[in-house]
Amino acid sequence: MQAFYQELTRDLAELQDKNLFRRLKTISGPPAEWVEIWGKRLLNLSSNNYLGIAGHPLLKKGAIEAVERLGCGATASRLIVGNFDLYAQAEKELADFKNTEAALIFNSGYAANMGIIASLVTRGDLIISDELNHASIIDGILLSKADYVRYQHRDLNSLETALAKAKGYKRKLIVTDTVFSMDGGLASLAEIVALKEQYGAILMIDEAHGGGIFGGHGRGVAELYDVAGRVEVNMGTLSKAFGCAGAYVAGKKVLIDYLLNKARNLIYTTGLPPAVVGSIRAALQVVRAEKWRREQVLLKAARIRERLQAAGFNLLDGQSQIIPVIIGDNENTLEFSRRLMEAGILAVGIRPPTVPANSARLRLTVMATHKEQDLERATDAIIKIGRELRVI
Ligand SMILES: Cc1ncc(COP(=O)(O)O)c(C=O)c1O
Repeated sequence: MQAFYQELTRDLAELQDKNLFRRLKTISGPPAEWVEIWGKRLLNLSSNNYLGIAGHPLLKKGAIEAVERLGCGATASRLIVGNFDLYAQAEKELADFKNTEAALIFNSGYAANMGIIASLVTRGDLIISDELNHASIIDGILLSKADYVRYQHRDLNSLETALAKAKGYKRKLIVTDTVFSMDGGLASLAEIVALKEQYGAILMIDEAHGGGIFGGHGRGVAELYDVAGRVEVNMGTLSKAFGCAGAYVAGKKVLIDYLLNKARNLIYTTGLPPAVVGSIRAALQVVRAEKWRREQVLLKAARIRERLQAAGFNLLDGQSQIIPVIIGDNENTLEFSRRLMEAGILAVGIRPPTVPANSARLRLTVMATHKEQDLERATDAIIKIGRELRVI
């Protein structure tokens, strides 16, 4: 027993040595444009509350009404007795929002990716996955027992090579994030859809960071590129731009029925609490009605990107509300983040294994509701500290 704890201590010390040890920050108050951490008020450039609606009065009202009518817990798996009318309404509204036949809610994006992938492919099948896809996709792939090839990030030649080599598989599933969570770049969905059709594969997209932001109706990157109707499995989260929790898959009714029967992450878990589902319904209304939010978030992000790029930072090739400021080594990244915190700015450092080795970064995220002058001051501070630390 003693040896067990010694091993854990040694492994943690190793993480400390590599500047890879992680600890929690405790936030007091709502996750808004400004947050309070350890008694300090900080401009929040690290949350996925992109549209700034997590504290929207309509979302709160939706949650409160659901609690008052239905209580706090779903009390069972949705397939037993945990499926309130509220779920059916939310799923119908999600399908309307995504313009698909049907939709199915999962308890989180992580659970959805694991459940969907492991249900749709197995031994004898092949998954072709962008090398920078989210960890939940990778875990779903490992759980599925299907063969697995990674193509180079956003590289269509590499994807085509993998498709051309794939012989003798029963099913071929291409899977990609639509907005890469740590890089902020968009997948070339129109070209990916064309390739999957040419090679007889099916396509699953993860709109975790695209939903609510891109496309005329905020449906996501597939809407932006006008290919949504040609994507078999359209997954997205409700935990980011939508300001709630949970995730969905949208598509043909037969796909939804299939997943309801097969996805273990949905079958063997208690349904989301009514409060969450109530807030999801309200979030859909807000995203539909308040188009200015998705316009503002992208506009504000573009302005910051332009200034940081002009100052000489490496921001990769992004077009979204996620702006990675590449630093490289872990220690410098932590120091950058610490100095920003001293300057009243929360910009969390992201280190391996979340990002590839030697590409530690600050991941800046913009909210529609950030004040222009706060963002300008933060950009000034990032440039100043970048010069002090010789990042630029
Ligand atoms: C691309 C992507 N997919 C899935 C998830 C998981 O979503 P959730 O936080 O709802 O579990 C995330 C975020 O953490 C993500 O970035």
